[in-house]
Amino acid sequence: MDAHKQLTIGLFGFGVVGEGIYRVLQQTPSLKATIKKVCIKNPGKKRNAPAELFTTDKDVLLNDSEINVIVEVIDDSNAAFHIVSTALKGGKDVVSSSKKMIAENLPELLGLQELTGRSLLYESAACASIPVIRNLEEYYDNDLLHSMKAIVNGSTNFILTKMFEEKLDFQEALLMAQQLGFAESNPKLDVEGYDAVNKWSFLLTHAYGIVEYPEKLVFTGIQNVQGGDAKVAREKNMDIKLVANAQKLQNGKVAAFVLPQFVKHDDHLAFVKNEYNGVVIESGFADKQFFYGKGAGSFPTASAVLSDLSALRYQYKYEYKKLKHHRPNELTNSFYVKVYVSFDDIKYVPREKFEWIEEWHAQEERKYLVGVICFEELEKSAWWRENNNSLILMPEAIIEDMEIRKLKKKSLELAGIFG
Ligand SMILES: NC(=O)c1ccc[n+]([C@@H]2O[C@H](COP(=O)([O-])OP(=O)(O)OC[C@H]3O[C@@H](n4cnc5c(N)ncnc54)[C@H](OP(=O)(O)O)[C@@H]3O)[C@@H](O)[C@H]2O)c1
Repeated sequence: MDAHKQLTIGLFGFGVVGEGIYRVLQQTPSLKATIKKVCIKNPGKKRNAPAELFTTDKDVLLNDSEINVIVEVIDDSNAAFHIVSTALKGGKDVVSSSKKMIAENLPELLGLQELTGRSLLYESAACASIPVIRNLEEYYDNDLLHSMKAIVNGSTNFILTKMFEEKLDFQEALLMAQQLGFAESNPKLDVEGYDAVNKWSFLLTHAYGIVEYPEKLVFTGIQNVQGGDAKVAREKNMDIKLVANAQKLQNGKVAAFVLPQFVKHDDHLAFVKNEYNGVVIESGFADKQFFYGKGAGSFPTASAVLSDLSALRYQYKYEYKKLKHHRPNELTNSFYVKVYVSFDDIKYVPREKFEWIEEWHAQEERKYLVGVICFEELEKSAWWRENNNSLILMPEAIIEDMEIRKLKKKSLELAGIFG
């Protein structure tokens, strides 16, 4: 095996990430990787690189037999899929940062890797600088992964941090995130949870062998979180974060979703502030491990691309071990969660859907309840996202069947019904 394969790169995209890769490669000559050509969209834009490097013709890169690696970092997921699949079919290895493209096309991309034998790496697509995918593949390559919870979207985390620490309201915090370049000009992708669930869908593949389109997962963003919710969180000595959760239940199935959640101050994720990302992995014998780092930005993202390029020198491929070498886990929505719901008017909250209600605050400026509900109810209904309702998971929200029976019995005992 050639341990130091020479990499000749065709780079698609020269924006925040693409230019970062160009600069990082200039500073790492030891990698023996050179960019032969860069394909961009708008020929008129001023670039901080020699003009002869650029083209707008994708085929110049895709048909060049000397180019053995395509690095795809563009912001158009349809065009990105076309580029990546053509490159793989043409016998080239690929590194991509395009999380939306990967999430939307993962089954096809798995098939193409199998068919062509080429490698597709995308570490930067999940949490930019944090090496989570390779760790899930190589270190947690067994069946012992109990749970994974993470903050995978820096923009929403920035907004929530500002709501808490500077008591800004949602719109003010969003504006600040946009001004600082942490949120898209159309912030819907970040704020409403689409970006986070895209990343979560393929992290689930590496963690549990689950291949699921993102829209099949229960998710929302922070668009409904209100100043009043932040006030309640402060009273309870907690923060609110947009948390992606995955947990193996006692029946072997996996609960997975992306929802706002109350986080206790001693939780690792409470440490993750502003535009940072964090991942807490809990496994069989190691207990909890915490990964923390920059989840966006030019150089942090480029550093993960660099690491993928370096891995390509020794023909590294994702083996998708949980999918191919183990029995893949199955997703389930058949469990219960403890939730906080704040609302303007109780008529928009179906109280009868709750197993029980533990707290009820009707006198507050912003009314709220805390109760236990079946997760399937969240999957099949939308009331919890509508009419200015705000649903936030309580910490350790998941309650499995076994436990709920015990708890139910206990509450009946307390009520003197049996015991
Ligand atoms: N920014 C981050 O921190 C970050 C982190 C992780 C992952 N990502 C992902 O990385 C990708 C790039 O993000 P970015 O922030 O670098 O975006 P960006 O700054 O908007 O740059 C996008 C680049 O793609 C080029 N482009 C668009 N369509 C193209 C096409 N059909 N053919 C060739 N080039 C095309 C644009 O060309 P012009 O320059 O000519 O307009 C531009 O250079 C996205 O998928 C994003 O989700 C970004």
